[in-house]
Amino acid sequence: MTRTASGARTWRAATEAALYGPHGFYRRPGGPGPAGHFRTSVHASSQYAAAVAELLRRVDEALARPPHLAFVDVGAGRGELTAGVLARVPEDVAARLRPYAVERAPRPAGLDPRVEWLAGLDAAPAGLTGLLFANEWLDNVPVDVAETDDEGTARRVLVRADGEEAPGPPVDGADAAWLARWWPLDGAPPGTRAEIGLPRDLAWAGAVRALGAGLAVAVDYAHEHGARPPLGTLTGFRDGREVRPVPDGSCDITAHVALDACAAAGSGDGPAPAPRTQREVLRALGVDGRRPPASLASSDPIGYIRALGAAGEAAELTDPAGLGGFGWLIQPVGPACAGLPAALAT
Ligand SMILES: C[S@@+](CC[C@H](N)C(=O)[O-])C[C@H]1O[C@@H](n2cnc3c(N)ncnc32)[C@H](O)[C@@H]1O
Repeated sequence: MTRTASGARTWRAATEAALYGPHGFYRRPGGPGPAGHFRTSVHASSQYAAAVAELLRRVDEALARPPHLAFVDVGAGRGELTAGVLARVPEDVAARLRPYAVERAPRPAGLDPRVEWLAGLDAAPAGLTGLLFANEWLDNVPVDVAETDDEGTARRVLVRADGEEAPGPPVDGADAAWLARWWPLDGAPPGTRAEIGLPRDLAWAGAVRALGAGLAVAVDYAHEHGARPPLGTLTGFRDGREVRPVPDGSCDITAHVALDACAAAGSGDGPAPAPRTQREVLRALGVDGRRPPASLASSDPIGYIRALGAAGEAAELTDPAGLGGFGWLIQPVGPACAGLPAALAT
């Protein structure tokens, strides 16, 4: 939809321009990057990259050590996770590894030259074999917002660059079908909101298609059918603080992800995997938040302090009320990795 006379646009169009336009929040050259505005698991602890490297090792084994093993980091930020994984995989894996960072922002200076920087998944070689990993990517794929009016009709919400909203036309077409299937608003009181996740479903299905064989994983703030938040989750972040979402390029704009809908879209006609919690998966990958035994404090005080720090970081990554509550959508592509999701259950 084009702008109205007041300059209002749909949230999807406004977010697209605010985040990814020439001067958008993520594209601005020289900015601090995502790490300067919010803390993802990647920035919380190097144990996260170690866990992803362990997952990559398991994928490699399941694929019978292919001559070229891809690690595809989608929504790579400044390439921190790719660099961390590269530093942690065993030598025999590193020798065969083809690391790709897929990111709309420009390549950062100083990134390991082995990393291939791609502006989009369509630039990736066809039929990659390996692990595709998307940490907090889908929540930044712009979506429209619907809100019910006094008659109970779901209308698209329009927004101006200063963040002021106005009701738009009724939601129709494929977006209306998506709402009916995944986030029904029938009978909801006036003012009930929903984020229309169809663009994320399509983005995820496209990411899964980029793999010829292996495992595709999306990790994000998630909610599921039957427990969607009645006022939606659209919000902003700037300088480490949650702020009112204003689509003027000054802040990140994000909304939690209907990962169950993405799972269905990525599965085609096959069964869709149920998203799991980060706490559960990271524990299966060896991230352990337990404190070291007190006896270590006297036998090896420095080791004790180090182990205590590591346990604190692991506890942050697995905290059910924080990062540990994130959803992991683990989607095998082809038969070789079909058993991996069950092996990651604790
Ligand atoms: C919240 S940041 C996450 C960065 C990193 N994965 C992390 O966990 O620290 C989301 C990133 O996804 C990127 N992004 C969004 N849509 C994209 C797309 N279609 N293709 C590539 N990158 C995209 C943004 O530019 C941004 O850097």
